[in-house]
Amino acid sequence: MEKIVSLCKRKGFIFQSAELYGGLNGCWDYGPLGVEVKRNLKDYWWRKNVQERDDIVGLDGSILTHQEVLTASGHVGGFSDPMVDCRHCKGRFRADNLDGMQCLKKPSCTPGEGADCDLTEAKEFNLMFQTTMGASADENDPNAIAYLRPETAQSIFTQFKNVLDTSRMKLPFGIAQIGKAFRNEINPRNFTFRSREFEQMEVEYFCHPDDGMRLTDDWLEARLTFYEEIGLPREKLHVLDVPEKDRAHYSKKTYDIEFDFPFGCQELEGVAYRTNYDLSKHQEAGGKSLEYFNEQTKEKFVPHVVEPSAGCDRTVLALICEAYDEEEITDAKGKTDTRTVMRFHPRVAPVKAAIFPLLKKNEDQVRVCREIQRELECYMTVFYDESGAVGRRYRRQDENGTPFCITVDFDTIGENGEELKDTVTFRHRDSMEQERLPISELLPRLLKEIR
Ligand code: GAP
Repeated sequence: MEKIVSLCKRKGFIFQSAELYGGLNGCWDYGPLGVEVKRNLKDYWWRKNVQERDDIVGLDGSILTHQEVLTASGHVGGFSDPMVDCRHCKGRFRADNLDGMQCLKKPSCTPGEGADCDLTEAKEFNLMFQTTMGASADENDPNAIAYLRPETAQSIFTQFKNVLDTSRMKLPFGIAQIGKAFRNEINPRNFTFRSREFEQMEVEYFCHPDDGMRLTDDWLEARLTFYEEIGLPREKLHVLDVPEKDRAHYSKKTYDIEFDFPFGCQELEGVAYRTNYDLSKHQEAGGKSLEYFNEQTKEKFVPHVVEPSAGCDRTVLALICEAYDEEEITDAKGKTDTRTVMRFHPRVAPVKAAIFPLLKKNEDQVRVCREIQRELECYMTVFYDESGAVGRRYRRQDENGTPFCITVDFDTIGENGEELKDTVTFRHRDSMEQERLPISELLPRLLKEIR
């Protein structure tokens, strides 16, 4: 993990938030490369879960949330983790997650296990961030309280009827949302894995009660396929069928999809059958019917819901961990070297192609490069680089995870005859093999590779 965290900073994937001021614990900023990976991930999720499906529509709900929404959903009363304080080292720890935590005075000790540790009884700590709304609001006025949402799901439930009425969807159908969520985690840790501000990608898939269990299994398969399609190998994905005692009381079935991170096998996503709990609670508290009427069967009921809920930041972290590789290579003169290469799937790679002139002083090579750049950049993120030896430029792109490099040389500009004029070398990051391609084939080839 240390190597990965350091590469993330050195190459501009992820930085600690407010690092200049000592850092804001549990918050992260995505740098120029990280933001591209994250956007690619969200775009692909949206494409698979909204664009390519007739039965799912999108929503972008507000982050600031009415307190009654979160009271009805149970978050105000119960969205908490058990917390203990140590009277000796003054540390605060999540009581159900002490393994891997360190005593503040003696880091080799797990809290509670050192000779001087003196833990209090566990008490519940609510994870929601509360704020007061309105310029004239008194901070003690209970009516002015609002919350930063702890999950994107609740605005989907509260807008269920509006979406149903405006989009005229028929069951089963889903509402998808990608957006920020906030939890005041007691111990944020493992880099971005457990943060206080993070993004979720959620679908609430509404259905008839008879279909809930079957659809939960279907969603599990669809989500596993998704992870494979973005480059996480099936053998590193694990499914935990969450036992009843560990499930939310309203859930009839929950699968956790876990990934082998360097710090252990940990949850990426939950696929939960939440029954009709949420809609029923909002119907009761909001006082308006959230029932669905099936015109064919004349049946009226509160729909059940299956929820695949993925963490965007956790998935980016999994992609980065999976991509990281160090490889021993030997050059033509027999010299060995270590190549660091980020083997991202081209679909999520931050930069899709880098474009180099062999010689930066050659005006024709530079002109052709810029023409290629102008053509490709309307469709994908590309990068022009002319500094240093070509071999070094390749290495920099390997570390960035750029799957293809395009080099314009003397053949391209016709200096060695007509045969290779208007062709370039097309170099593959993983195999380091090169092929010769006509410039006119670059765009269709790249579009096929990154789709
Ligand atoms: N609406 C259901 C829900 O929010 P969850 O299991 O609490 O369920 C879903 O969260 C996903 O959100 C998790 O599987 C994880 O990927 C991500 N997530 C939750 N808490 C997180 C945190 N503190 N930091 C980063 N990601 C988090």
